[in-house]
Amino acid sequence: MSLLDDVAKLESEALERISTADSLDSLRELEFRFLGRKGPINTILKNLKDLSIDERKLVGAKANETRGRLEALLNERIATFESGGQEAAFDPTLPGTGQRQGVVHILNQVMGEICTVFHGMGFEIAHGPHVETDYYNFGALNFPPDHPARDEQDTFFVEGGRVLRTHTTPVQPRELEKRKPPIKLIMPGRTFRHEEITTRSHISFHQVDGFLVDEHISIADLKGTLVAFCRAFYGERLKYRFRPTFFPFTEPSIEIDITCFLCEGKGCQLCKYAGWLEILGSGMIHPNVLEKAGWDPEKYTGFAFGMGVERQAMLKYKINDIRLFFNSNVRFLRQFV
Ligand code: DAH
Repeated sequence: MSLLDDVAKLESEALERISTADSLDSLRELEFRFLGRKGPINTILKNLKDLSIDERKLVGAKANETRGRLEALLNERIATFESGGQEAAFDPTLPGTGQRQGVVHILNQVMGEICTVFHGMGFEIAHGPHVETDYYNFGALNFPPDHPARDEQDTFFVEGGRVLRTHTTPVQPRELEKRKPPIKLIMPGRTFRHEEITTRSHISFHQVDGFLVDEHISIADLKGTLVAFCRAFYGERLKYRFRPTFFPFTEPSIEIDITCFLCEGKGCQLCKYAGWLEILGSGMIHPNVLEKAGWDPEKYTGFAFGMGVERQAMLKYKINDIRLFFNSNVRFLRQFV
């Protein structure tokens, strides 16, 4: 039947033109031409009354179907253009829309730098669990049962008598039990403390611990290793000083300060006018720690150290608020590309 053929021809022509239209304007024009009030489909529908009943049904159905298909394709293509999906033909001479690249988070960068320096000195990397037993977090490290660090002020307690580790030092007794001297490890990772969140302290932060155990290890090894680290990380020219302090798991215990690299020792806001910046804790591993892990402290000795990653990053990059590391502000993070 010729009218049905006409509708079929019209449909294929319209579909072809709609699918190849290359602008919003030409799509609107095609919409008007094919589906407008005076367009061919409407004209056919309007004139159905002149046909026999049988023809009317067939042609009417076919014309409505065609209208549905054209509308669907038009709507789809118009929506694509309106959402900016496909502008005209691809023009390779237009300026690009620049893709921003993701970067490694500043904390991971700094943790990586610290590990790289020690790795270069032959230290291997080890990890331990965030949820730790009271024994490894405290007991194995020679904390007496009434030590204030066990107090709820500092520690998050988890059911089953466990804690969120308050430092990365518990990996030390874990590895001491598993390995044989010589042992030379660094242990980077996340730590947790029940602290008020301020510009300087947070409930979750990161540390890198390390230790070396073998026969005949002395405080000279500690000094050589840690001074080499400080120079590699903070620069060749820095001065350093060793200060006695107390940790339950080391004896003697030493804190290392470096000259403030901002004022070079003259005194400024960064070093709180002391001229020195405290950067890490260290010491000779306490004989009790070695003994609890099954090693004879008469035969084996070792040194250990631990430092806060946020603290090193804040000092090195002059960041004044620890919370900046955790609130995912892209404008902050992008500065460390
Ligand atoms: N665990 C200590 C802290 O969180 C840091 C530390 C000091 C680790 C001396 C050590 C060490 O391994 O020997 O403050």
